Amino acid sequence: MSEPVHRQASGNNLDPWYGAYAARTAGLAASEVRALFAVASRPEVVSLAGGMPFVSALPEDLVTDAMSRVMREQGPVALQYGSGQGVEKLREQTLEVMALEGIQGSASDVVITTGSQHALELFSKLFIDPGDVVIAEGPSYVTAMVIFKSYQAEVDHVPMDQDGLIPEALREHIASLKAAGKRIKFLYTIPTFHNPAGVTLSEARRSEILEIARENDILVLEDNPYGLLYFDQKPPAALRSLESDGVVYLGTFSKTLAPGFRVGWALAPHAIREKLILANEAAILCPSSFSQLVISQYLDQADWKGQINTFRDVYKERKETMLSALGEYLPDLTWTNPTGGFYVWLTLPESLDSKAMLPRAVKELVAYTPGTAFFADGDGRRNMRLSFCYPTPESIRVGIRRLATVINGELDLLNTFAGTGRLTRSQSRGQFAGPPPNMS
Ligand SMILES: Cc1ncc(COP(=O)(O)O)c(C=O)c1O
Repeated sequence: MSEPVHRQASGNNLDPWYGAYAARTAGLAASEVRALFAVASRPEVVSLAGGMPFVSALPEDLVTDAMSRVMREQGPVALQYGSGQGVEKLREQTLEVMALEGIQGSASDVVITTGSQHALELFSKLFIDPGDVVIAEGPSYVTAMVIFKSYQAEVDHVPMDQDGLIPEALREHIASLKAAGKRIKFLYTIPTFHNPAGVTLSEARRSEILEIARENDILVLEDNPYGLLYFDQKPPAALRSLESDGVVYLGTFSKTLAPGFRVGWALAPHAIREKLILANEAAILCPSSFSQLVISQYLDQADWKGQINTFRDVYKERKETMLSALGEYLPDLTWTNPTGGFYVWLTLPESLDSKAMLPRAVKELVAYTPGTAFFADGDGRRNMRLSFCYPTPESIRVGIRRLATVINGELDLLNTFAGTGRLTRSQSRGQFAGPPPNMS
């Protein structure tokens, strides 16, 4: 049998369909970092790379009770297709969850999705045409950018500091994008316990950012998976609590319950909500009835707020362990001090490259995510994201000690072989201690 003509014409040795993929798949190539993570998942490696919630802190019987009750009382409904908008009762319950962050809304404006990741996909499908610009913090959530790029958007990064997105920088970026004739579609923001930067947008800046968006007719996509996971003090209220017409809000049960259910939601102005439902139906017909009913049952029966408190305590202890280990083993460097969520953003001395250093780190049995993963334009070489959510406090200390061995080894090598002009460790101390790192 002869080969189809197009395979011969456009394939390559590895993939006979190489030339057949849609242009939008260009950003879907697996990175070398991803390949390394396969190695990093070996048990002897301390992984500070992933963002997996510590689901073992969730008592198993809380989940099995909810599951068996659903099967006993609503089995045929749980096993059936359901509404494309999601189970009405669960939509009402999401209002209770959002009320904890100051948000008021109507259950009819909630659309249940397969995790907030799927809401990001649906929203992007609705709004992005090739060449449109999505404004995002720099750095930003890697898998949101994969989606934006798969719809052929350009991602424009606006810098942050310790108080989150910088309003003046946002104004400047909007002005120069407009001057260049670009079409800005929306602002994608993670204002609270940012992934990966670990910072939180200050209260004063929240209204300012919304004001800028309003003045420029820019829709805001607020992604808030971590807002309820604060350590001591509640963060400022969600952007959606200050503005309803210009904000689409994304929530999820992945971090406050468990990601295995794959249940999240969008709260959107009426017209957008309508389109989101149609897009949801077109993509998946309906979100999982079973998962939705189990979560609804759990919210009804279990002490879910108490469980969130348990998660907070777990993550707070891990964050404190990570920061104290950083202070002990890498006192010359700077890092963010998150007041909630899962992540610390570390800044390296100028001479180091977190991506180039990763293979050596994995060899030393510690893994992190290089900062370059969180920028669409290859920036972030001097940064890395350290996740404290999953490893135990003991492993975190071991991981940071190993990381210090790698970083100090790199600095010593550079100082030995690179001749003059390189930083010594004591010079780097002077440069990086003190003021908060610029995250641009
Ligand atoms: C900022 C951000 N958005 C969205 C998601 C996706 O979460 P979900 O499990 O709800 O799809 C994550 C997961 O880590 C995240 O960090």
